[in-house]
Amino acid sequence: MTTPPFVPRVFSGIQPSGDLHLGNYLGALKRFVDAQNQGIQSIYCMVDLHAITVWQEPADLRHSTRELAAGFIASGIDPEKSILINQSQVPEHAQLAWVFNCVARMGWMKRMTQFKDKAGKNAEAASLGLFGYPALMAADILIYHATHVPVGEDQKQHLELTRDIAAKFNHDYGVEFFPLTEPVIEGPATRVMSLRDGSKKMSKSDPSDASRINMTDDADTIARKIRKAKTDPDALPSEAAGLADRPEARNLVNIYAALSDQPVDAVLAEIGGQQFGTFKPQLADLAVAKLSPISQEMARLMNDPSEIDRILGRGAEQAREITAPILEKTYEIIGMVR
Ligand code: AMP
Ligand code: TRP
Repeated sequence: MTTPPFVPRVFSGIQPSGDLHLGNYLGALKRFVDAQNQGIQSIYCMVDLHAITVWQEPADLRHSTRELAAGFIASGIDPEKSILINQSQVPEHAQLAWVFNCVARMGWMKRMTQFKDKAGKNAEAASLGLFGYPALMAADILIYHATHVPVGEDQKQHLELTRDIAAKFNHDYGVEFFPLTEPVIEGPATRVMSLRDGSKKMSKSDPSDASRINMTDDADTIARKIRKAKTDPDALPSEAAGLADRPEARNLVNIYAALSDQPVDAVLAEIGGQQFGTFKPQLADLAVAKLSPISQEMARLMNDPSEIDRILGRGAEQAREITAPILEKTYEIIGMVR
């Protein structure tokens, strides 16, 4: 339910901090490409302003932003079809975020689990930006009146907050100006788990590199990490119900299903009964076949960062055609003299 005449529009973002991993690819990038290819107007964003909520070395941030843009393009995001931007070049994101800081309530923000996880034990030392992060995220989405946001499961709570902010703004000012954005969290890989611990999500902040497959890992590294992935001693089941209490087995099957674009049941019909010793090499071959062309293309694109900068510059111009009028209208609604 988005009500008034909101044109379908997709927005999503990824932080340019650290390397892209298989969780980002299956939970986000691959699904962005699917949305783009359905012909819906799509905007994809390197959220550099979000990244600095924790310390970033300036040179690393610049490099990661370009490398992430290369990752989007190499995965199939076509800058002729989608708008590709880095957040800081479209100032309306930060401008609307301020307004949302004044709409969101302290009590709502205090419930955000990502803040609790990222701030850790010493929340007093966390930046104010880390606490306010979800209001900026809501602004990223609503400054486009985006109706659909494909993300991994970990972002669900932030999208609910985005809807709460939109609803409160609309209610307080008596307008139907911001859409209630729909999260798009679908498919077998909305939560890819660590290869070392099936109860933790695969994450760039995990200290163990063996816990994740990075998009830039070479074929041998991918094969070794999958071979060493934690499993149990049983054979694979023939139906999804058989994975219920087997988080590590379920994770590897989900990864296989997502990489091969098949439902889990179809995969299990094929591999049910196999031991991990047989299944893991097949999974490794599939992962290498899907990821190596992407990492090679990323490396090629990174040879010419000026081309990436040009694409992001043009993306920002296209984005501002959407964002500038929405910000103007917001200011008008809230009573700013223009
Ligand atoms: P981040 O790397 O935290 O900026 O996340 C970027 C996107 O990747 C978001 O849509 C996340 O939901 C998604 N994502 C991150 N980690 C995972 C994971 N382990 N499984 C599925 N999606 C993920
Ligand atoms: N918060 C998201 C993450 O940590 C990244 C993000 C920022 C985002 N703004 C967004 C995702 C807007 C979707 C839409 O992964």
